[in-house]
Amino acid sequence: MAYIFRKLALWSLIFRLVPTALALNLSVASSGGNTSSPILYGTFYEDIYHSGDGGLYGELIRNRAFQGSGSNGVASTVRNTNYWHPVGGVTLSIDVSSPALSPSLPYQMRMDIPAGTTGPVGFYNDGFWGFHVDSAKRYVASVYMRGDYSGSIDCYFQNYISGANLSTAVMSVSQTAAEGWKKSSTPVFTPSDSASDGNNTFYYMFDGEHLAGKSVYFNLFSVFKQTYKNRGNGLREDLATSLNNMNGKYLRIGGNELEGNGPPYEWKWNLTLGDLKDRPGRPGTWGDVTTDGLGLLEMMQWAADMGQEVLMSVFAGLYLNTTVISEAALPPYVDSAMNQLEFLLGTSNTTYGAKRAALGYPDPFVINYVEIGNEDNINGGPPSYYAYRFDAFYNAIHAKYPSLQLISTVNPSPSTTAGSAVDIHPYKNEATFVSMFNAYDQASRQYPVWIAEYAAIRPGTTTSGQVGAQTLGMACAEAIFLLGCERNSDIVVGTSYGALIKHYDEEPGTVAVIKHTSNEILLTMSYYVQKLFADYKGTDTVPVTATGGGFGPIYWSATKSSTSTFLKMVNYNGSATTVSVTIQGSMKNTATLITLTAPNSTSVNNLPSHGGEASKVTTSTITGSNGVFQVPFTSGYEVSILAV
Ligand SMILES: *[C@@H]1O[C@H](CO)[C@@H](O)[C@H](O)[C@H]1NC(C)=O
Ligand SMILES: *[C@@H]1O[C@H](CO)[C@@H](O)[C@H](O)[C@H]1NC(C)=O
Ligand SMILES: *[C@@H]1O[C@H](CO)[C@@H](O)[C@H](O)[C@H]1NC(C)=O
Ligand SMILES: *[C@@H]1O[C@H](CO)[C@@H](O)[C@H](O)[C@H]1NC(C)=O
Ligand SMILES: *[C@@H]1O[C@H](CO)[C@@H](O)[C@H](O)[C@H]1NC(C)=O
Ligand SMILES: *[C@@H]1O[C@H](CO)[C@@H](O)[C@H](O)[C@H]1NC(C)=O
Ligand SMILES: *[C@@H]1O[C@H](CO)[C@@H](O)[C@H](O)[C@H]1NC(C)=O
Ligand SMILES: *[C@@H]1O[C@H](CO)[C@@H](O)[C@H](O)[C@H]1NC(C)=O
Ligand SMILES: *[C@@H]1O[C@H](CO)[C@@H](O)[C@H](O)[C@H]1NC(C)=O
Repeated sequence: MAYIFRKLALWSLIFRLVPTALALNLSVASSGGNTSSPILYGTFYEDIYHSGDGGLYGELIRNRAFQGSGSNGVASTVRNTNYWHPVGGVTLSIDVSSPALSPSLPYQMRMDIPAGTTGPVGFYNDGFWGFHVDSAKRYVASVYMRGDYSGSIDCYFQNYISGANLSTAVMSVSQTAAEGWKKSSTPVFTPSDSASDGNNTFYYMFDGEHLAGKSVYFNLFSVFKQTYKNRGNGLREDLATSLNNMNGKYLRIGGNELEGNGPPYEWKWNLTLGDLKDRPGRPGTWGDVTTDGLGLLEMMQWAADMGQEVLMSVFAGLYLNTTVISEAALPPYVDSAMNQLEFLLGTSNTTYGAKRAALGYPDPFVINYVEIGNEDNINGGPPSYYAYRFDAFYNAIHAKYPSLQLISTVNPSPSTTAGSAVDIHPYKNEATFVSMFNAYDQASRQYPVWIAEYAAIRPGTTTSGQVGAQTLGMACAEAIFLLGCERNSDIVVGTSYGALIKHYDEEPGTVAVIKHTSNEILLTMSYYVQKLFADYKGTDTVPVTATGGGFGPIYWSATKSSTSTFLKMVNYNGSATTVSVTIQGSMKNTATLITLTAPNSTSVNNLPSHGGEASKVTTSTITGSNGVFQVPFTSGYEVSILAV
């Protein structure tokens, strides 16, 4: 009651002072704020729904080394020849005869060729929902083979619908069974034609007459298209470019993939290194086998290539199926985490630093943030996290690396030591995201916070049902939450959306910043919110004084750098209106206005072939006078950034 009366008194005061109109007037101070985390807007990666294999990882062949499989959304160690199809009357099967290609890859594909065969025989691969065939790009294919064969292997893309061949490349092979495994590669080739769609297959074809009545063996197939920055075993170029354009300042490596479904399938950092023959892969947590081709060093290279800090995670003894490593059994896991950190941070004369140097990285990486586990607040994690798991890792890591910020995945953290932090993962509906605008206004200033995963997963106030609409309304709600994080970026260290990338053909309907098919990319409105917020971020927060209105329907946050002031505003369920902005101390008469909007709050972006983007980013110059600008909102749902 008392509150309502005070509000009424305030309103009547405003009416008296500003009798003409109730226009919102925001006055941005030139100082008086706090240092803002330089890495506030970041990214979180785990291999979920083919964001790694079949996504960002540049390998195009699916089931390249028979490392396991997935069915009905569950990954397993069952080996099969899925995604491979025989051609010319041959039989394909999984085989375990000796010698294996390597101890890590003990399963291979056998091809039996009937006696009397003539003409071409072989097989083709489906890729991950097809292949992108682009005549402007370079490709290379390879395979390991065991058996008697002298002849050529014709390697080419074919369009599944038209049957047209789209490329030619030949491996010349001359080997006997006694020689064991031999690797063959095509020369680098460019397709003769670009496919009009992604529905393409890749063929390996042999001279059947030379193989009639025989069996030959294959493993570790590969087709790579040229990669981001031309890295060997690197990233898919178009996806990595989109990611780089997002301008995220850190890469968090961890998540559910770190934990694994159950023992012994946690992420084992040391089995993701070196020659691909030495990476066994494992059943992943999101329904399919993980090849670990995109391993620890590939991720570190990715972060380096995009100029990102790394938030590294260590497995902390909790599996997704609630299995917890007992206190007595924990020491080897702590040792493994320490070895992981030595591998990354140790000089080349340490045991594990030397292993890193031998893999081509002589200089230690710079890492400032390490997270102990992932989401230990759920799946039965808290009792053991508080009782012994967190301390076991914290004490060992802190003793050796006192300057690392160590992050708890449970709030409050089991540790109150200065320099530790906590990671909170809100996955809520749209309305809750709007209400979280002030979530950190009253937070303790002693205790840094990471929002290393978040997403508005349902529209409006819905609490069940669809989890992936990713409408303009939801993106605006996320933007309001981020404004609150930015206002509090003296303690909010970083924010990153979960998930980063998903394969559209597998998971069209749940949230991700970016979705892809074999040949297309969908940038959601959440992508644009994060990109714009990262692109226009200052070094310090600055106070904003409002007259003519308070937070809602328009929300805001301001930052400044040495040369500019940035006022970010989000109109949420408001109307077209004009906000009067005063940048205190500025004599400027022009400003840049960047806006993101779409036809209505339920608009969504889509793949180019499914209607494309509904959202539009516009950049314009507006004129004002001596730091005073009238900023127009054209729509009731709009993100607007004024850069002065
Ligand atoms: C907006 O606020 C500033 C600072 O309080 C004031 O100087 C200015 O006159 C106001 N502008 C309008 C249009 O009300
Ligand atoms: C700066 O941080 C203090 C708390 O330490 C907070 O009260 C204040 O609102 C912050 N200033 C701005 C401009 O965010
Ligand atoms: C390719 O086209 C076939 C026939 O229409 C269809 O069954 C298959 O799902 C398509 N594959 C991809 C990856 O689009
Ligand atoms: C595609 O190329 C292979 C190998 O050269 C050949 O056997 C096949 O007939 C070609 N298919 C078409 C449709 O041209
Ligand atoms: C968790 O998974 C492991 C196998 O990875 C299994 O042995 C164990 O029983 C499972 N635990 C629960 C609680 O489901
Ligand atoms: C990987 O680390 C585990 C645990 O520390 C260890 O048992 C294993 O021998 C290591 N494997 C390799 C290939 O380094
Ligand atoms: C070897 O390690 C020591 C510390 O243990 C360090 O001072 C020295 O610089 C290292 N040498 C090289 C070549 O990395
Ligand atoms: C938008 O505002 C109207 C009232 O102006 C209200 O009825 C509606 O529920 C609001 N929608 C959302 C998503 O907040
Ligand atoms: C919202 O905009 C989309 C285009 O982005 C359009 O298809 C849809 O019909 C519009 N919905 C309403 C309720 O106007």
